[in-house]
Amino acid sequence: METELPHFEVLSNFIVFEGLDGSGTTTQCRLLQQKFEKLGVNSRYTCEPTESFIGKAVRQVLQHNQVVAEGTLAKLFAADRHNHIFHPEDGILAQLEQGAKVICDRYLFSSLAYQSVDWNFDAVWELNRYFPLPQDLVFLDVSPDEGYRRVVQRNTTQEIYERMELQDEIRSNYFHAFTLFEHTSMNIHIFDGTLPVEELEELVWKRLSPSDN
Ligand code: TYD
Repeated sequence: METELPHFEVLSNFIVFEGLDGSGTTTQCRLLQQKFEKLGVNSRYTCEPTESFIGKAVRQVLQHNQVVAEGTLAKLFAADRHNHIFHPEDGILAQLEQGAKVICDRYLFSSLAYQSVDWNFDAVWELNRYFPLPQDLVFLDVSPDEGYRRVVQRNTTQEIYERMELQDEIRSNYFHAFTLFEHTSMNIHIFDGTLPVEELEELVWKRLSPSDN
């Protein structure tokens, strides 16, 4: 696929976690944040979709309460992301400028992986190509079977992408997306998301602790 690559801006101290549903991103984001806090490093946890009114509209669609035309969800995610990055008071850029490390649970890589399941990859790329990149992208890799098994175990109402038959495609979209960023200065760390929580926490910390940066 001929995807035109723009100049990428990479933000220091911005860390993103990604993975299939059930890969454990929220757990590992929280654990990393606690580790930074223990060291006295100012750090913030945030996630996408956000808690803003745009993020709430996104959740309405994810939870089957609203049905929208093709491409609309990708645009809603992009609007939520734009506000998340650029909001003048509590946006990610503002937090970084105040000296915080920002740990974000999902970001544009989720859009490239998930929205291209029901829209075309280049259209999703077009909406997301101008967002700044994190310094570190942590991908927690679980097999589609394992991720899905964990989602079912949670016993919550299943969202639109939480269907077994989509997981393979979402996972390969992630890996395709990563190839587009190979020549940027963003570090991509891929870990086995099926490792025990504490072991994974240690591995992530080895890569991201301040002494190694
Ligand atoms: P997640 O935080 O994993 O869900 P929950 O709060 O239910 O644990 O994210 C919600 C879903 O949104 C997940 O299936 C991935 C999806 N998603 C996208 O499809 N595109 C995106 O750009 C983002 C950020 C998330």
